[in-house]
Amino acid sequence: MKEMDNIFSDRIADVPRSFIREILKVTIDPEIISFAGGLPNRDLFPVEEIKAATNKIISMHGRDVFQYSTSEGYAKLREYIAERYNREKNINVSSEDILITSGSQQGLDLLGKIMINDGESIIIEEPGYLGAIQAFSIYKPKFLPVPVSDEGMDIEKLRLIMSSEKPKLMYTVPNFSNPSGVSYSEKNRHEIAKILQKTNTFLIEDDPYGDLRFAGKNKTSFKKLFPENTILLGSFSKIIVPGFRIGWVCAPQHVMKKLIIAKQATDLHTSHFTQSIIYQYLKDNDIDEHIMKIKQVYGKQCEAMLESIRQYFPDNVKYTKPEGGMFLWVQLPGNLSSLKLFDLAVKDKVIFVPGDPFYINKKNTNTLRLNFSCVDEATIRIGIERLGKAIRELINIKK
Ligand SMILES: Cc1ncc(COP(=O)(O)O)c(C=O)c1O
Repeated sequence: MKEMDNIFSDRIADVPRSFIREILKVTIDPEIISFAGGLPNRDLFPVEEIKAATNKIISMHGRDVFQYSTSEGYAKLREYIAERYNREKNINVSSEDILITSGSQQGLDLLGKIMINDGESIIIEEPGYLGAIQAFSIYKPKFLPVPVSDEGMDIEKLRLIMSSEKPKLMYTVPNFSNPSGVSYSEKNRHEIAKILQKTNTFLIEDDPYGDLRFAGKNKTSFKKLFPENTILLGSFSKIIVPGFRIGWVCAPQHVMKKLIIAKQATDLHTSHFTQSIIYQYLKDNDIDEHIMKIKQVYGKQCEAMLESIRQYFPDNVKYTKPEGGMFLWVQLPGNLSSLKLFDLAVKDKVIFVPGDPFYINKKNTNTLRLNFSCVDEATIRIGIERLGKAIRELINIKK
């Protein structure tokens, strides 16, 4: 078997498997309450509306919806996305600046492909999105993690890095981050913009959750603050359905040209059929009303989780208080290991994602991610009570 290793590229050798997918195997037991998933709530998928949109486009366009199409994506859908940015976020972009991708995950891969050479440094928020770590790892960068806390990025650490390195990219999820649920403050965004503005570092603003704000005020997009150096990623996965795999990259023209070449080389184009369905759905329905429904459900579920944490967790456990999105982040006291907590919690029939895979080089951390979008309020209370019990057990074992 040893010689078989030679058939694989160096590129794939050290890329980690998705830890979360491994963990999710445990959830087959129906009695387990899972805060480990990262999925949008399936009860909120607009199934009937999608059915109607699908029938309509087939009746209207017939065979043409099944034909090959342009690499940039469906022109009307790109126009819709650009107009929505102009209207909702006051970001001045045109449809030419939008490339439709197979989920925003593909946007991350394409950016790695066109921008990262072996060993080049890129900044990544920490804890950071596992899918970004995985996508960029393929291109062998040197990761420079910058810690994120309640207000956003650690500005001093960022300054320090920028004074000694010339990173190609900086990756952030400034709205309700996966995994931490943190949203960067207005001040933090301006400070970051000021530091990066004078450099050649491109900022990747990955924003699949931005529309899901259920508390607090909207914050200014980096694409608004310094458009020339910001590449904004978006997605319909969390506001319509993830199964169509439709996302986009919004980038300056010179970056867009290279992205289109990489897109052609990767998969020619994203499914024209699913792009047409999404466009028809958007035309025939009020997406803001639909998003409002999602926000109401997630807002209540998040509140139920926070309330139960206050009730059932020991006082010295810290946690974030998200204003949107699908996750919150917990820090156990001292050096308690969340991996050890996982073993206890499984026995009590509740699971979560231990923090380790969201860091570049840390093991046995005391952090964990909880998802609140997929579990109803009553079940959240039971699950958090079980988890609180497991935390106390772990504290007692340590004593
Ligand atoms: C921060 C972040 N970026 C990107 C993605 C990928 O989303 P999609 O490819 O479905 O658009 C996810 C999915 O969970 C995510 O959490």
